[in-house]
Amino acid sequence: MTDQQPPSQNVSRRPHAGHALLIMALLVGCSLATVWSSESASPRDKGDRDIQDTKQKGAEGVDFSYDVFGAPPGQDPQRIAEEVKAKDKADKPAVMAQHAKILQDRYQLDCRSKDGVVMTKGKPQPIGPTVKLPNGATWDQLSKLSPEDIAAKDLFPAGFRRLPHVKPAVGGQVFPDVQTKQFPRLIRFDVNFDLPDCFLPEFPPPIFLTTHPELGDVSQGEVLTAENFDRLFRGLVTPVQLDGLRMLVTQFPQEEFNATHDRKSEKPSLGVSCLDCHVNFHTTGQFHLNPDTRPQRDRLRLDTVSLRGLFNQQIHGSKRSLRSVEDFTEFEQRTAYFNGDHIRAIKKGMNIIDRVVVAHMAQIQNMIDMPPAPKLDPMTGRLMRNKATEQEIRGEELFFGKARCAGCHQPPWYMDQQMHDLKLERFGAQADGPIKTFTLRGIKDSPPYLHDGRLPTLEDTVEFFNVVGGLQLTAEDKAALAAFLRAL
Ligand code: HEC
Ligand code: HEC
Repeated sequence: MTDQQPPSQNVSRRPHAGHALLIMALLVGCSLATVWSSESASPRDKGDRDIQDTKQKGAEGVDFSYDVFGAPPGQDPQRIAEEVKAKDKADKPAVMAQHAKILQDRYQLDCRSKDGVVMTKGKPQPIGPTVKLPNGATWDQLSKLSPEDIAAKDLFPAGFRRLPHVKPAVGGQVFPDVQTKQFPRLIRFDVNFDLPDCFLPEFPPPIFLTTHPELGDVSQGEVLTAENFDRLFRGLVTPVQLDGLRMLVTQFPQEEFNATHDRKSEKPSLGVSCLDCHVNFHTTGQFHLNPDTRPQRDRLRLDTVSLRGLFNQQIHGSKRSLRSVEDFTEFEQRTAYFNGDHIRAIKKGMNIIDRVVVAHMAQIQNMIDMPPAPKLDPMTGRLMRNKATEQEIRGEELFFGKARCAGCHQPPWYMDQQMHDLKLERFGAQADGPIKTFTLRGIKDSPPYLHDGRLPTLEDTVEFFNVVGGLQLTAEDKAALAAFLRAL
């Protein structure tokens, strides 16, 4: 297991052992390695010293590998950029091998599927569980143990812990292969995407408009881009919405994709568009680091969320809890998406958008519906008895009963507009703190699961909540619960 930590009341402030190792490997030769390795080597005291340490390391742990704009006088930024690129490329095989080892320790990533179990447009849903059990343990045993016992015996599965970014010290946006094949401008020279395609949503995802339910998927099987948005959407939406869409498919400078020397794409880039990540207003698993946390090593990996059904959501972002789509849109745009750093955003070429235009962008985002769920009663969001299978109905009973899922995932949207802290530190894992409850409507279409995509399949989410909630579900219960989730 790469991700384990000795149990401690203070785990949330401790350096992440797995992270520290990975980062060390990445940064050999670099001064950061000394900072972090010495930290992970020595056991640390609790209390104020920890906080002081974290602040100190935050200051020393420069967030980014280089910054040509801050190059010392007399240094040639072009040369520095070439040197960094050469080093990044040379390091890439080792970086990816190190990350592959982390995945290997966490998951059994063979692509299992089941006849007829498909996403909205027919891509097979991945079937799990994929998370590996710690030596000798069974899922049944784990769900019967107290958090304290699991922590003391170090039995919390590696795959239930934070999933690191492929290169945490640098972070940034990483796009899956299926997408970079069609859009080579999104290839980075320093890292690759990590998860196999079978654990990602369909590409391109279908698009459903709240204003045109009778049309079904309006994507015509294409990825919405600056080239085709007018052809696909003119006449279907208002001029305001079309203008909002224009902005959502327009590339803007971003930390790794921009026209300066300081970038991770081979050629200078115009940047990325909103719908490069939220492909067709959904997601295909692009990831990044969260903007909200410092120091760099503590930032969470973030799996791109779907924008379907945004109109019913009142808090946005895993941690930020921004209260409007407008605010979220403006924020993502202004900080070069997700670095939480407005100054670096300006350096990469900032495009201030007027609040009126932001409103246009928000309006079109609010027109996107969930995929159909033909087994749900429109009046209640619950299963219709004459449409659902026995197993799905049993799953629903569990969801609202013994499994206690409905405490947070309330119908009809299967969420509660709240953030909750699952307190994984009880199990000896690194703490996540409060995270927004994601909607479970259309959940079959958006693997991998949780904010960082640490759970590749719905079976993994059921095992996760079974252990974390101490639910003691039977094998039949768990299969029924997964079947219910697939019907939502
Ligand atoms: C790196 C790819 C990426 C790009 C580019 C991107 N987003 Fe996002 N978006 C994300 C991720 C990841 C989240 C989840 C953030 C979190 O959980 O804190 C998100 C969340 C959101 C949300 C909140 C959704 C919710 O469930 O509450 C909105 C709205 C949004 N993005 C709109 C936009 C807009 C508008 C743009 C363009 C200005 C944009 N995004 C560009 C990845 C991206
Ligand atoms: C205490 C509130 C709470 C309860 C109870 C709860 N959940 Fe969740 N659920 C959350 C939160 C918060 C998240 C997001 C966690 C994260 O990303 O780290 C989440 C995420 C999920 C996801 C992944 C969503 C996505 O888009 O990736 C699934 C699936 C899920 N829950 C299913 C369940 C099931 C099944 C149960 C019952 C066995 C359950 N939840 C019980 C709060 C809860």
